[in-house]
Amino acid sequence: MTLLLTNIKELLQVRPEAPEKLSGAAMGELPTLKNAWLLCEDDHIKSFGTMEQLPEVPEAIVIDCFGKMVLPSWCDSHTHLVYAGNREQEFVDRINGLTYQEIAAKGGGIVNSAAMLQKTSEEELYAQSAIRLEEVIDLGTGAIEIKSGYGLTTEAELKMLRVAKRLENAYGITVRRTFLGAHAVPKEFKENKQGYIDLIINEMLPNVAEEQLAHYVDAFCESGYFSVEDTEQILEAAQPYGLIPKIHVNQFNSIGGVALGVAQNALSVDHLEVVTSQDIEALKNSNTMPVALPSCSFFLGIPYTPGRQLIDAGLPLALATDYNPGSSPTGNMNFVVASACIKMNLTPEEAINAATINGAYAMGLSDTHGSITAGKKANLIITKEIPSYGFLPYAFGSNLIDHIILNGKQL
Ligand code: NIG
Ligand code: FE
Repeated sequence: MTLLLTNIKELLQVRPEAPEKLSGAAMGELPTLKNAWLLCEDDHIKSFGTMEQLPEVPEAIVIDCFGKMVLPSWCDSHTHLVYAGNREQEFVDRINGLTYQEIAAKGGGIVNSAAMLQKTSEEELYAQSAIRLEEVIDLGTGAIEIKSGYGLTTEAELKMLRVAKRLENAYGITVRRTFLGAHAVPKEFKENKQGYIDLIINEMLPNVAEEQLAHYVDAFCESGYFSVEDTEQILEAAQPYGLIPKIHVNQFNSIGGVALGVAQNALSVDHLEVVTSQDIEALKNSNTMPVALPSCSFFLGIPYTPGRQLIDAGLPLALATDYNPGSSPTGNMNFVVASACIKMNLTPEEAINAATINGAYAMGLSDTHGSITAGKKANLIITKEIPSYGFLPYAFGSNLIDHIILNGKQL
């Protein structure tokens, strides 16, 4: 199928030679073409240019984008989209004064979600998760990472990852899967955390690898969850299976997870609501992408990642939703981009770069996603008629998406 988008008011993130990631001052530049056309052939971008040199493509289906912007789909590099039920009651408990950590300490939180998921059949888990995936595709997400971590038994962890794999096959959206067995210590292992780590290493990891269910390995490296030493054991055990680390660090405390991630060549270190100068130094000259999750900060009322400070220190930054039932029950990347501007002082250019090119990097998808580049996937957002691209984060509560193109097909 050939698709020709014409009269595009402004085509965003145009990169004839796409960098694999953007850092520091380079994040402030968003190359665009005004009054543009874009040609998609099958599932990829073929070519683009300005309307003065519009090619004749008789076989193409033409979409007139007059007054509208076109940009690459969002790359959401951190989600827990596969889960069962919800945690609305804990939301109300927090309104009534309990903290996220207090709720977890009395048996709520991640282990609460795990109990629900263990009881849910694979079919039902698939059905619940598919609804969320359809929603985020409509909101402009064109590639997504999905973690396990609400199973906490071998069987339930495998069930989650199988569901994530089935979702990719059914919807055609690129799904990168991450094994997060070390998300919380299950109740049965409360007095024997090492026993649970041994289960992860000796039973879960070999099974995940055997079924080729994951690309990445993750751990919640945080006081009260998994220490730096625990995390290191797990990352090292995952390495022979080719699982690259992407880890939860510094959500509440800076305990050394960032330096560990860098030392283990993690693809990304995510959350970073609390960042020290040592953390910033550790990230400099590394290949590890810092990832901010502002909708988690919004929902839990915790500090926002100091994204401005990270970029001003010359670092790259990616943005993701953290879609999950406990700390971010939304997978809306448009809201994430807006809150990065509103709460983290990113410019619209920086936020869009963080949610496209740098999000793709944080999923190992730099070659195929995140920019308007010939040969990359034709995954596109066509906006409604808007005055400028800064209007996307500015009008943060409006749905400004008109159409979605996924794999070169209009949805
Ligand atoms: O990234 N912080 C760890 N994991 C998830 C939330 C888990 C939950 O509360 O269910 C997160 O925020
Ligand atoms: Fe998370």
